[in-house]
Amino acid sequence: MKIILLGPPGSGKGTVADHIEKEFHLKHISTGALLREEVAKGTTIGKDIQKIIEKGELVPDDLSIQIMRLEIGNKKDYLLDGFPRTVNQAQKIEDLEVNHIIYLEIAEKEVIERLSGRRVCATGEHNYHVQYLPPKKEGKCDVDGTKLIQRKDDDPKVIKERFRVYNRQTAPVVEYYRKKDILKIVDAAQKPEKVYGEVRKVLNHF
Ligand code: AP5
Repeated sequence: MKIILLGPPGSGKGTVADHIEKEFHLKHISTGALLREEVAKGTTIGKDIQKIIEKGELVPDDLSIQIMRLEIGNKKDYLLDGFPRTVNQAQKIEDLEVNHIIYLEIAEKEVIERLSGRRVCATGEHNYHVQYLPPKKEGKCDVDGTKLIQRKDDDPKVIKERFRVYNRQTAPVVEYYRKKDILKIVDAAQKPEKVYGEVRKVLNHF
């Protein structure tokens, strides 16, 4: 099974993807996480990516497509989180024959608080929220015990820019799939367990 998860910054793509990965045993492929891995390596390209992410902009299509395709390799079952983000990216992956495209719908004002309260562990793999999803021990990751930090792009000014970019470049992707009549919409402004409950219904429907 192949799934695409679409949604604005902070809509809960990563949170839902973690659940799907566990329950449906699909590889979770997040372009954001792959790009942050490149940044962590400190390579020249990683430094360029870091500047782009910290401004809240998108990395060039050629690079994100290349990174995502490399990660997919020969896999048959996977979940794309944060890809595609431009209509050009969507057109370049038509050959993948994705089974489900799920749009996590939520208004901008609802997610500001989610993003400003988000904390991630040092590996970047596990997400928390100071209020909605706190770790068992304050400031420490439940899974690997590393210190929890705030992403640089979760700064309020950068969040604003990420939304501007989302509205200009990624909202048209939602329309692109809506017109093709293959988009499933989930109300993401509910409690995490309710959101995932709706996602499960979409996946089990087929
Ligand atoms: P990326 O890491 O993908 O960032 P994003 O799309 O902005 O999404 P987020 O990770 O911020 O949010 P999310 O929807 O995953 O929500 P989460 O589950 O974490 O990309 C980062 C950057 O990389 C981009 O800005 C761009 O520069 C670059 N990039 C990535 N892909 C690219 C591409 N294809 N092309 C070009 N550039 C690309 O939840 C957020 C918080 O809310 C958490 O604290 C969570 O605990 C909490 N939460 C989740 N669900 C709920 C709920 N239902 N109720 C309350 N709280 C909740």
